[in-house]
Amino acid sequence: MLVLGIDTSCDDTSASVVEDGKKILSNIVSNQSEIHAKYGGIVPELASRRHIEMIQPVVDEALRAAGAQLSDISAVAVCHGPGLIGSLLIGCSFAKALCYSRGIPLVAVNHLEGHILSVFLETPSPKFPFLSLVVSGGHTSLYLARDYGLYNELGRTRDDAAGEAYDKVSKLLGLGYPGGPVIDKLARQGDPRTIDFPRAYLPETLDFSFSGMKTAVLNFMRSCAAGRDTRFDAGDVKLVENISASFQAAVIDVLVRKTEWAIRKKRVGNVTLSGGVAANSALRERIKKMAEERGVEVFVPPPALCTDNAAMIAVAGYHRFLKGEIAGLDLNPKAYLPLG
Ligand code: KG4
Ligand code: ZN
Repeated sequence: MLVLGIDTSCDDTSASVVEDGKKILSNIVSNQSEIHAKYGGIVPELASRRHIEMIQPVVDEALRAAGAQLSDISAVAVCHGPGLIGSLLIGCSFAKALCYSRGIPLVAVNHLEGHILSVFLETPSPKFPFLSLVVSGGHTSLYLARDYGLYNELGRTRDDAAGEAYDKVSKLLGLGYPGGPVIDKLARQGDPRTIDFPRAYLPETLDFSFSGMKTAVLNFMRSCAAGRDTRFDAGDVKLVENISASFQAAVIDVLVRKTEWAIRKKRVGNVTLSGGVAANSALRERIKKMAEERGVEVFVPPPALCTDNAAMIAVAGYHRFLKGEIAGLDLNPKAYLPLG
């Protein structure tokens, strides 16, 4: 069974054809980073306009690359939230028009469920119940996935998402958007012990908080620039690498420690890591090491399936379609759409 997935939740226009909820036949992602880079973050209106231009060619390319026709498609799975409302509207309107004109069933998918189920695009895949850490630009949450479609949120960020913190720190350092990949790269050349940025562990809960870390970076940079922190020279090129490494170490310490707490609390044998920040090389290593030490199996998709893509939407849509969850043509996108 072939499902066509569509995701336009943020700044990537993506379409994918997935067979039987497992095998990727195509996964096309048209990235808009170049458009938003000069603003240091996503400009929603520009994102929507670009989605309008790209949605048809991206869907056509996904079908062509999969060697499929619309008549081969059993269902169209579209992400209807959470995300930027103008962006979501393009994908949803396009999917509805396609389904209406070709008589194809429409399935609505929560973007976060897509990230959780992205691990099923790889072999081996986890067994339910598993703990899922989703770390992206808009979300940082821990879920207990009990089955397809059954998720309990154990904790979430109370302020910034981890990816958002990367993007904001990158902007402070003048490194552009998106911040994750560039900080990931610079951090490899820096010393993570240079600056001891605060880690907000919030001991009584599985919630997260990252906004203090971004402020700590800002305060540190101001101290250097004003010459108050004489240990560091603001003109030192090594400083940016060391700030990147120290900031990244603080983010990863919190993510890994809280995942460890959740494993202990829920006594699960399988843990997954997904979302854009899961593309981070150091985080992938640290989660794997922690899981190994605890005797827990860990599943992390390849980086291209961690960042936004429509294959993960097709997987989630496939399982909803099997359960007969068909959306009406009155489907409306939602900027805020909690899961579980
Ligand atoms: O999942 P995603 O593509 O979109 C959302 O659903 O938000 O995640 C995008 C986020 C951005 O904040 C980006 O900076 C971050 O993922 N990211 C990374 C890396 N690659 C992307 N963060 C850290 N290290 C990376 N290698
Ligand atoms: Zn995402």
